[in-house]
Amino acid sequence: MLTVESIHTYYGTSHILHNVSLEVRDGEIVVLLGRNGVGKSTTLKSIMGIAPCKIGKISLNGEDITRLTPDKIARRGISFIPEDRRIIPNLTVLENLKLGMLIHGKNVNMSETLEMVFLYFPKLKERLNQMGESLSGGEQQMLTTARGLVANPQLMMIDEPTEGLAPLIVEEIWGMLKKLHQNKVTILLVEQNYEMSLNLSKNLRAYILEKGHIRLCGTREELHARQEEVEKYLGVKV
Ligand SMILES: Nc1ncnc2c1ncn2[C@@H]1O[C@H](COP(=O)(O)OP(=O)(O)OP(=O)(O)O)[C@@H](O)[C@H]1O
Ligand SMILES: [Mg+2]
Repeated sequence: MLTVESIHTYYGTSHILHNVSLEVRDGEIVVLLGRNGVGKSTTLKSIMGIAPCKIGKISLNGEDITRLTPDKIARRGISFIPEDRRIIPNLTVLENLKLGMLIHGKNVNMSETLEMVFLYFPKLKERLNQMGESLSGGEQQMLTTARGLVANPQLMMIDEPTEGLAPLIVEEIWGMLKKLHQNKVTILLVEQNYEMSLNLSKNLRAYILEKGHIRLCGTREELHARQEEVEKYLGVKV
């Protein structure tokens, strides 16, 4: 589905991503782990064309998307849910969701799409006419994720969805991610919580970034077998 081959990304003259390669296959959930500032968000932004790579290649289903603009990449079927939960504050929940549907094209069946959203995010049903700005942090996360989902993407890239949320809400978000995965939605997830993210699925794969380099990758079992290296790169006991 998605292939990232040896990309290098810069902000001005600072070289952030060094030779980053990764792959996400159909229906997979892939987790990108790493400490603060190692380039996790930059990797997602490079894929989305927001922080384009200078060298390297990114393809979606065999098609080169490296030089496309973010709106074109979105239309090819990638939804990016950034870490800052960017909802439109002065639009209602419903209006925010309708914006997400626009990317999907004219033929979207709104009531069916909303029913699908409520399966994942029952809380949003009660809040359809509430203004975006009055939602709690957890509800905002649900809304941005739902807005990404209604575009009917081939791939959802979700950046630290649980950051700064209370434990009960975090549980809810993990539950939603598990449900998306069970329903075969392909996900590239950025996370800091090693234990929790590796428990999302039995057959998940993860990549560990350090200082802009991919240092480790593998299945849960493969990473558990390399515990010392995981601890070194993540800077925590696992
Ligand atoms: N727009 C920008 N201009 C210049 N430097 C940037 C910009 N955005 C990020 N950086 C720098 O690039 C590096 C990687 O940042 P990035 O946001 O990708 O890290 P991250 O792994 O997502 O961290 P976090 O876990 O804190 O979200 C950091 O050193 C950061 O300061
Ligand atoms: Mg980040």
